[in-house]
Amino acid sequence: MEKFVDTSHTIHDKAFKVLTGKLKNENIKKVVDAGSGVTSASILLKYFKDASVDAIIYPGDNRKKNPLENDIGSNRLNVVELDLTKSCLRKKYDFCLALLTLGEALNFGNSFENLFHRIMDIKARYFVLYDIWEDPCVHFRYIEQYLKEKGFKIILKKKFRNPHPEHYPKVKYDKYKLEFDSKHYMGYLIKNLNVE
Ligand SMILES: C[S@@+](CC[C@H](N)C(=O)[O-])C[C@H]1O[C@@H](n2cnc3c(N)ncnc32)[C@H](O)[C@@H]1O
Repeated sequence: MEKFVDTSHTIHDKAFKVLTGKLKNENIKKVVDAGSGVTSASILLKYFKDASVDAIIYPGDNRKKNPLENDIGSNRLNVVELDLTKSCLRKKYDFCLALLTLGEALNFGNSFENLFHRIMDIKARYFVLYDIWEDPCVHFRYIEQYLKEKGFKIILKKKFRNPHPEHYPKVKYDKYKLEFDSKHYMGYLIKNLNVE
């Protein structure tokens, strides 16, 4: 029996459902969770019932690895430890999710731009990008400009109110001095015009 976490009460689950509503008739079989965790992996297993999911985590990120291995039991899930900024994924995917991944780029010594570019290099037909709107480390204007210039089409862009805002009190890095409250999430459904 397949086991994964019930995410139905979360805003991330509701947002994912809205963002991927237009993909109902697409044949989504191969999926990559670029920056995985139990929430995103469970959402993908739940909504893409016929898909296999490669769950990418930063090497040695046991915060994510242990729950992925202990709380999920599915032979459709494949946990992969890989630095997305250093190794390129050769496999072709139907769908790529980056849920709250970009905001963590700096935690592992990468720049936001580098991680974002490497994620968009993944050969996936569709992407969902989803991150905290107030996070000063995530440059949404840059994301939209890059997508426009590099052969991607934003099919849906939507901001979601976070019913349980959290305060992020720490100065993350010198360059980013702002504290912030996670009041909203911004999500994009993107079609990659560079692949068939
Ligand atoms: C905040 S967590 C994402 C949460 C997850 N999507 C969920 O729903 O539970 C950020 C994820 O991005 C991964 N990550 C950050 N930088 C990475 C990199 N350079 N290469 C691969 N994974 C990375 C971390 O290991 C972690 O799995």
